[in-house]
Amino acid sequence: MFKITERTALTDNEYQIWLEAPRIATKAQPGQFIILRIDEQGERIPLTICEADASAGKLRIIFQVIGKSTAQLAQVKTGMSLLDVVGPLGKPTEIKNYGTVMLVGGGVGIAALFPIVKGLKQAGNRVITIIGAKSKNLLILQEECAKYSDELILVTDDGSLGRKGLVTEAMADVLQREPINQAWAIGPSIMMKFCTKVATQFNVPIYVSLNPIMVDGTGMCGGCRVTIGEKIKFACVDGPEFLGAEVDWDGFIQRMRQYHPEEVTAYQAYQV
Ligand code: NAD
Ligand code: FES
Repeated sequence: MFKITERTALTDNEYQIWLEAPRIATKAQPGQFIILRIDEQGERIPLTICEADASAGKLRIIFQVIGKSTAQLAQVKTGMSLLDVVGPLGKPTEIKNYGTVMLVGGGVGIAALFPIVKGLKQAGNRVITIIGAKSKNLLILQEECAKYSDELILVTDDGSLGRKGLVTEAMADVLQREPINQAWAIGPSIMMKFCTKVATQFNVPIYVSLNPIMVDGTGMCGGCRVTIGEKIKFACVDGPEFLGAEVDWDGFIQRMRQYHPEEVTAYQAYQV
């Protein structure tokens, strides 16, 4: 059993959980994820590891309530235990000194971006981080990102904090200003698609982290298949990070919407 040692509401529908998982905490690297189940009836929920504290044997995860299972996860209390947690899964981010790097995070995707920001800073890169959200109160992990960034640009859709607009606009300004050796973007699919477009215009390679539906997380079910460079890949074992320029974005976005009606029905039934 995996004990929850802290549960905090970060925004109206985003939550942070610290949980005991010593063996995973020792091995976890930036870019990797876990799959958890709350109880015997629980769906398997894939979540990127936001932080791993190997000495305390704990993992930090941050998630947004988007349906029945994440709503159930938001109800857990400090002291309760999760039935199972599998990980660390997926290929780690390639952390090395690239020179100057640009990290772009949108909404709850900032939680998945943060360990990469930290890792790249510790590897000696000059780190420019751009984080965006709809509004000031949804812009998470500002202090943590600032700590490991040489420059942090805050962006909100409504202009309530930082620059008003989309993260892609801030990206284009930086790319016009100075050469960037490597970029990453993590957030909603549409954001990552357009971040790829902007980076590609400036000939900057960009990695994105794909979060399709996953079941086993070990490359067996095929649920997480994505088309990369016209080849079928499994995000759980071949990813979740891929070069944005190679992703079939339209196919990916369509597959992400595939079970939307069933997800809405399940969430509505849970709320009754
Ligand atoms: P959001 O919808 O508030 O978007 C965050 C930011 O993305 C916006 O503020 C904006 O700057 C940028 N953005 C949005 N649409 C854009 C566009 N068309 N062009 C350029 N930039 C755009 O974010 P949210 O509500 O927190 O998003 C949740 C989504 O993120 C979910 O769909 C979830 O699946 C996804 N997510 C992805 C990952 C991942 O690993 N890729 C991790 C966590 C969450
Ligand atoms: Fe089953 Fe990736 S989740 S193959």
